Amino acid sequence: MTKLVAVAEPERVALHARDVQFDWTGLPLRWIPREAFASHVINVMHLLLPEGERWFVKVFSEALPLIKDEQLREDVIGFIGQEGMHAKAHQGVQDYFDAHGLDTRAYVEQIENLFRRLLGDRAITDERRQREWLIERLSLIAAIEHITAFLGNWILNSPALDAAGADPRMLDLLRWHGAEEVEHRAVAYDVYMHVDGRYFRRVRTYVIAAGAIVWVWGLGAKHLMDNDPTPGERAKPRWRGVFGTARRGLTPSYGNMFGCMWRYLSPSYHPSQEGSTSQAVAYLARSPAALAADNLAPADDSPTRRAIPTRR
Ligand SMILES: [Fe+2]
Ligand SMILES: [Fe+2]
Repeated sequence: MTKLVAVAEPERVALHARDVQFDWTGLPLRWIPREAFASHVINVMHLLLPEGERWFVKVFSEALPLIKDEQLREDVIGFIGQEGMHAKAHQGVQDYFDAHGLDTRAYVEQIENLFRRLLGDRAITDERRQREWLIERLSLIAAIEHITAFLGNWILNSPALDAAGADPRMLDLLRWHGAEEVEHRAVAYDVYMHVDGRYFRRVRTYVIAAGAIVWVWGLGAKHLMDNDPTPGERAKPRWRGVFGTARRGLTPSYGNMFGCMWRYLSPSYHPSQEGSTSQAVAYLARSPAALAADNLAPADDSPTRRAIPTRR
């Protein structure tokens, strides 16, 4: 009889950025064969994330002086490095789309306005109000990071995409990113709890963030389908696509998504309850892009990849 051995879950991983490179030559815009809807629902990430993650980097860099815990500070520096690389990698796909007839600019300009104007720095002279605006944005990022951790956990557990013949380079980009989202899923939440931690603000910003993401995501998928120049059948946003792709495991299940949203509202919530660090670390140990990045940067020595005891 086979004896099952439980794999110990590392509670904390020292975070480091991996300078991944992707060659998108020949990538179909619909990189899941015969699945225009699912391809474009996932492609929204390449339009939304570059600007969004650059905004994360900016806000977290501004927040560094507020962080008095040395270990959390280290985590934030690792988080900033990882999010900066995510933005760069998704920007590469966005540029590829623009160069291959899928014009993303009108939508991306709206996203830039959202992050730079609505959520950017404000001309506030009062120091206390300035700090409150920074904490408000940290709370929003903690909420968004709950959703990115959910998506990261999903993409690491999405065999239907492999079975459907999805482009392996795209799967590696999504899974490398997803694994790092799972790896650093507690950082934004811990920062928010460190600098403020009020439950009402956490819930309020979460409701705003979740509603805005659903809305903006829908607009992005529609933009991509409307502008997709692939010859043949036109991609159209249809309810059949919305539910059919989720049922077939090509996009996240709506039941799991609502469950995830609900969990964030619990007063005892902590991101460590979502996803598996050991699964994320295991994927990063075999991801072609992550392996190549670590070979390209041998000076980044092993302690940064080691699982280390948590402060909790
Ligand atoms: Fe990210
Ligand atoms: Fe993240």
